[in-house]
Amino acid sequence: MDYLDYFDIVDGKLLFSGGDLLEISKIYGTPLIVYSRSIIEKNVREFRTAFHIENFSLHYAMKANYNPAILSILRENGVGIDAANLNEVLLALQTGFSRDKILASPNNLSEDELKKIRDTGVTINFDDISQFKMVAADPPETVSFRINPGIGKGEFEGTTTGGKGSKFGMPPEAALSAYETAIENDVHKFGIHMMTGSNVLEPEFFRESTRTFFSIAYKISQKLGISFEFIDIGGGFGVPYRDDEKPMDLNKTANYIKENMKNYKDLFTENTKLIAEPGRYIVANSAVLVSKITCKKNYDKNIIGTDTGMNILLRPALYGAVHPIIPIVKFFNKKEEKGDVVGPICENTDKIGKDILIQKLEPGDFIAILNAGAYVTSMSSNYNLQPRATEILLDNGREYIIRKRDDLPDMLINFIVPDHLKGIRVN
Ligand code: LLP
Repeated sequence: MDYLDYFDIVDGKLLFSGGDLLEISKIYGTPLIVYSRSIIEKNVREFRTAFHIENFSLHYAMKANYNPAILSILRENGVGIDAANLNEVLLALQTGFSRDKILASPNNLSEDELKKIRDTGVTINFDDISQFKMVAADPPETVSFRINPGIGKGEFEGTTTGGKGSKFGMPPEAALSAYETAIENDVHKFGIHMMTGSNVLEPEFFRESTRTFFSIAYKISQKLGISFEFIDIGGGFGVPYRDDEKPMDLNKTANYIKENMKNYKDLFTENTKLIAEPGRYIVANSAVLVSKITCKKNYDKNIIGTDTGMNILLRPALYGAVHPIIPIVKFFNKKEEKGDVVGPICENTDKIGKDILIQKLEPGDFIAILNAGAYVTSMSSNYNLQPRATEILLDNGREYIIRKRDDLPDMLINFIVPDHLKGIRVN
């Protein structure tokens, strides 16, 4: 299985990117997310190699994981940022990304928040003309609009962000008049953006979506006599989660996109950058989530309890997503048990593995949940007053704590009990 590429077995123990998961979990406790710097950097290299063209810019979509230590690794590697809102822009700036390395692709923001983003000086991919109008009196130097090219694809309905019924972007005709409005407001520099869905493994989809997108961009540029400083094809590049899935062929995908660029030579002037905004591809396989088996029961169904709940890993409950689960010590044992791997949250959707076949596990055993680098910690919560996971970074043979586990005071820090409700305890 390709997703086991980064594992080694030494003395019967599972090493992840050289780190002894059992040892680390005993030290830091579980649930524990263990990241590997070298895997993140390898993913960045792979991406850049595939898109090896002049004027290519890689902007990491920080919604996938905004741990400042992870952002710092990416900054050191010269990667740019795609930010979803003001706070993401501010964190990127705080982490040392320069403004010209940050793009903001927000949607449905308040005028106040949008103006604050504009004031930071980063370039904005406006989701709609209505958003641009909020800052039209004093527009950013470069203005970009998000197109809905009419097609979309994502692993789930909830992660499909283009096509009919999508809440994102504008159809081509509306985009045309949005650029006209920008021109009327004295804007002279332009970009164009799309993002049609997340976790797509098929290169052919990117061939189709970029062909459609480039043709829309070309028509706009011709009709209005403008050229684009950048053409931003969004993210969406998939990684395998299921046993029968193969890694996406990134080179083939990039080649299809380059072919489409050649077919729209006039759109890509000497100064036009091609931008991609991958989130998942850069970080998903760079981390595992280690959990401990807490207890088991088997009445009408085999229930394998762990200390990792849907507050830490929401994707299975939210989308029906699947994450590979492997035992850390009993890895080579036969898979002989079928059941649900569940957490401690009071919801019946709190199942991190549903009807899976797995080795026979006992309370105290450790498991690793794979692909925990993207959309895990960034979507986690304190539901049920459960702490989020501790996070560890493996970096050059050493381990560093990059997020401590929340304790009860951390989780209560923003709650306020008015004075008149404090006081006499009646029991
Ligand atoms: N750019 C924009 C404007 C986006 O909205 C997104 C993701 C990306 C880039 C990065 O997409 P990626 O390369 O990571 O697919 N929570 C979901 C994924 C939602 C993605 C939303 N937008 C999940 O857990 O699968």
